[in-house]
Amino acid sequence: MQRHAILIPRSREHHRSLRLARDLQRAELDAAYGQRQIRAAADDLRRHFSEEEKTFAVWVTELPDSHTVLSLLDRMHREHRSLIAIIDVLCADAPDFEPGAGSLSRRLAYHTFGQLLAEHIAFEERSLFPALQDCCLMAVSEMPAGVRPGVRPGVRPGVRPGVRHS
Ligand SMILES: [Fe+2]
Ligand SMILES: [Fe+2]
Repeated sequence: MQRHAILIPRSREHHRSLRLARDLQRAELDAAYGQRQIRAAADDLRRHFSEEEKTFAVWVTELPDSHTVLSLLDRMHREHRSLIAIIDVLCADAPDFEPGAGSLSRRLAYHTFGQLLAEHIAFEERSLFPALQDCCLMAVSEMPAGVRPGVRPGVRPGVRPGVRHS
């Protein structure tokens, strides 16, 4: 499915995050490198998660509670909370590692975070984004000439009760 124009900036950010995820999963990674990478990306990742939550909450305000996209959004929120918790720990608790230093458990923590991040992105690209496109976004082909991509007519901005967002 072709990515909707309104989601393309998110998908571009996913490409960057996937490079980070692959870097962190490299078996030979040393902890100093992993530490630098994750510290450099932490704020962007937190912002990306927060923007997804705020944006998508607005799009689903009119959907019935039983709609499948809401369970996909619940999974997205759960995974964001888990990833942020790991980012907080990995950024906060360790002194700067020297190149080649860092325990096996620390390297495994970076590897595991990379794996979880890659799985989260795959879930959004393969399941969540197509579902959001189907239910909430006006297809580019439906749009009158000159109209910017956007939500379907009748989807009113607001915050859906019960959908968490940060
Ligand atoms: Fe996400
Ligand atoms: Fe994302």
